[in-house]
Amino acid sequence: MCGIVAYTGSNEAYPILIKGLKRLEYRGYDSAGVALSQGNKIGLYKCRGRVADLDLFCSDKDIKACAGIAHTRWATHGEPNTQNAHPHLSEDGKIALIHNGIVENYLVLKKELMSRGYKFQSNTDTEVLVHLIQDIFVKEQVPLEEAVRIALGGVVGTYALAILSADNPGQIILAKKGSPLLIGIGDNEYYVGSDGAPIVEYTKKVVYLEDGDVAVVAPQKKLVIRNINDNAKKRPYWQKLEMNLEQLEKDGFEHYMLKEIFEQPKAIRDSMRGRLNVQKDVVSLGGIIEYETKMMNARRFIIVACGTSYHAGLVAEYLFENIARIPVEVEYASEFRYRNPLIYEDDVIIAISQSGETADTIAAVELAKRKGATVIGICNVVGSTLARATNAGSYTHAGPEIGVASTKAFTAQVTVLTLMALSIARKKGTLALSEYHQIIGCLEDIPEKVNEILQLDDIIKDISTHFVNKRNAIYLGRGVNYPVALEGALKLKEISYIHAEGYPSAEMKHGPIALIDEEMPVIVLATEQETYEKTVSNIQEVIARKGRIISIVTKGDTLVKEMSNYCIEIPATTELLTPLISCIPLQLLAYHVAVLRGCNVDKPRNLAKSVSVE
Ligand code: G6P
Repeated sequence: MCGIVAYTGSNEAYPILIKGLKRLEYRGYDSAGVALSQGNKIGLYKCRGRVADLDLFCSDKDIKACAGIAHTRWATHGEPNTQNAHPHLSEDGKIALIHNGIVENYLVLKKELMSRGYKFQSNTDTEVLVHLIQDIFVKEQVPLEEAVRIALGGVVGTYALAILSADNPGQIILAKKGSPLLIGIGDNEYYVGSDGAPIVEYTKKVVYLEDGDVAVVAPQKKLVIRNINDNAKKRPYWQKLEMNLEQLEKDGFEHYMLKEIFEQPKAIRDSMRGRLNVQKDVVSLGGIIEYETKMMNARRFIIVACGTSYHAGLVAEYLFENIARIPVEVEYASEFRYRNPLIYEDDVIIAISQSGETADTIAAVELAKRKGATVIGICNVVGSTLARATNAGSYTHAGPEIGVASTKAFTAQVTVLTLMALSIARKKGTLALSEYHQIIGCLEDIPEKVNEILQLDDIIKDISTHFVNKRNAIYLGRGVNYPVALEGALKLKEISYIHAEGYPSAEMKHGPIALIDEEMPVIVLATEQETYEKTVSNIQEVIARKGRIISIVTKGDTLVKEMSNYCIEIPATTELLTPLISCIPLQLLAYHVAVLRGCNVDKPRNLAKSVSVE
């Protein structure tokens, strides 16, 4: 949700800023802008559209500068146009500011500032910040960083800010509450980013700012961090950035999404690495060892997440209830946090998030912590807010996921949740050793089976040609395949803009069946399952209404295959692990449909990968 990049040092700032913005574009791509420190002036360039548009716009401008701040926007307040693009300038043109987050009390602040004569150029919530800071700066005659600190005391909401001042070329002021921001230190220079992607090429030594921090960076000077509330100075905690540059490249694939789909065998293996000791019958997730007894004795698990991560949570419900016999509730974080939920001290909350920055998920975690529950995190981005906000947790180790539609993060999340369920089940004694061995054996084979499915890419591409002109699609699945149906539908709608619904197969007759006619593609997950026969009946119901069946079946199936218009065969596995492989053809199907429809697969309209606003 908006990406921030900043640089100050002796190198040319603009190329670093633009490259950084390109790497952060997954966070939003409604508009982009840059403010450059040029002598005692600020050069401001911004435009509607993508970072490439900004770069083109700047191609004939004077962009020489050794410090600057840059922003790529996902619009919240105010439509995506040039006026609303960041940076925003103070009235005297001497302060430029970029923001990721939401100023919740911006209307009150705006009214007050307007009554004092301030004129607003945009419809954003952000612009109030720059006027407010300038107001305090002029009135109180304090250093700019102090004006920022005082101003933020009156701001309700979330922010990651970077501020440039004409009076102090080279100095950048940063502040954080609720949205991520990290600072990398180079050779007498500083790099700033919403995540490590714009920084990793230059340095791996970083500080993750914490909520309530105001920081000042300037070349040749030490990083200074103070607390917004009490102005206390804080010692920066330097850490190693866990990221490689190669992971951020497309590696010959046409899109990041396709690359990430094909990376799944490795991502799944990496998420298991060092955690599975087959000889010793041990599954061990180092990050949660201390909390395993708590987890074993939990009254219940409450899983909170959003989007695709929520679907991984739904899969986990089957895993934990079936093998560890622990009651599980799975909730959209955004609903959970606002409905005054009953949370007990012996509840364990499991928060799942690829980015570790999703605002609603973080808020749900904070709520659970206040109520005294134990909070376990599962996330992909090392050092993210979620990783730091939870009592304990496990990383998914899937590597950076850049395509906005989540793929490898999902399968890695399900893998880690499976390991968690297995570990707890063994310790609790709810899973017989023979079954445990059987599941572990199957889990180890999953990467190879995913590989096998990836070889069907051309067949799936062919099938996708029949979707191009469709306006709707229904996805059906039962049991563990129900969350996969939801995930398949989400993939299709988010990248191809075809309306799609996922349903439990049996629920179809309580509504969606009314939609079925010869135009409606119905994608049915009909793999080997206890409920296979029931699924066959559901398929009959669709065929009777002339719906088109695209089935995902277990290799060797003939019954459903013969009933289907198109059929994709996947290898057999144990029922509980089916989601790890049955989701793969649905990811590929959505991908190819979207490409055929000419959609921007990696950056679908209106979406952002990291939703750090409510
Ligand atoms: C956005 C992304 C989805 C993602 C969801 C949750 O909607 O587009 O791909 O599943 O946020 O994100 P998280 O980082 O918390 O998993």
